[in-house]
Amino acid sequence: MTDTGGSAAPATERAAADERAREAADTLRAALGVSDVGTCVILGSGWGPAADQIGETKASVRSAEIPGYRPAAVPGHAGELRLVRSGPHEVLLQMGRTHLYEGHGVASVVHGVRTAAALGVTTLILTNAAGGINPAWWPGTTVLISDHINATGVTPLTGPTFLDMTEVYSAPLRALCHEVTPDLPEGVYMQLRGPAYETPAEVRMAAAVGAQLVGMSTALEAIAAREAGMSVLGISLVTNLAAGLTGERLDHTDVLAVARASAERMGQTLGRVCARL
Ligand code: HPA
Repeated sequence: MTDTGGSAAPATERAAADERAREAADTLRAALGVSDVGTCVILGSGWGPAADQIGETKASVRSAEIPGYRPAAVPGHAGELRLVRSGPHEVLLQMGRTHLYEGHGVASVVHGVRTAAALGVTTLILTNAAGGINPAWWPGTTVLISDHINATGVTPLTGPTFLDMTEVYSAPLRALCHEVTPDLPEGVYMQLRGPAYETPAEVRMAAAVGAQLVGMSTALEAIAAREAGMSVLGISLVTNLAAGLTGERLDHTDVLAVARASAERMGQTLGRVCARL
């Protein structure tokens, strides 16, 4: 037998992750009373209250009851999966996510995306709270993610998976967003591992290499979604200017307060997008 350093071979681990996603999808089908779902929205820190604006709730389940989902570890993450009706479609809302900094590995981070793929999802909307590097973006600004820089040092891909990353965030989906909500700015999002916020020097580094947003999620999920062939839309809510750009210190409760204050507006944008898909 090949020595794999005490853990299962990567291909075996990946097969197990895919099996867990299929089990999660089957459990969700039973819990939510659906067969397949075309669209999924992952709601990031503080985005939970936006859920009610997206559509009428048909069914919901605690994520802890679904195989492979971890209990919510972060205040501001609801740990719930909801099926809502938006226009002619049913949409799966994943309220909360697992972050890399929780220490459960990248497969846990992308489990929700792979479960969505196993449910038939072809359009994935990723939302997050982010630090803004563009000083014109005051807290509460909503920014479309045009591209990302994965600065985590890990990837959900294993083996020779030479995935094209030329247009991770779908141009047609961004165009649709601009139609339903004019004047949304766009920016490049850098995912760092966290959980510490960036130092001012790290923020200057991010700016120097072309990022306008910093955060601790989204890029790894977007990679997994593209591997599964989904169209991806990414939306950041700027909850604060990134470290060092103001005299202020960063605090997660302030991040949540800004998100809460913006939730209704963000939910309306998401609702309009989902209804038009
Ligand atoms: N940095 C990283 N993640 C964040 C920030 C930030 O400034 N704000 C909200 N999430």
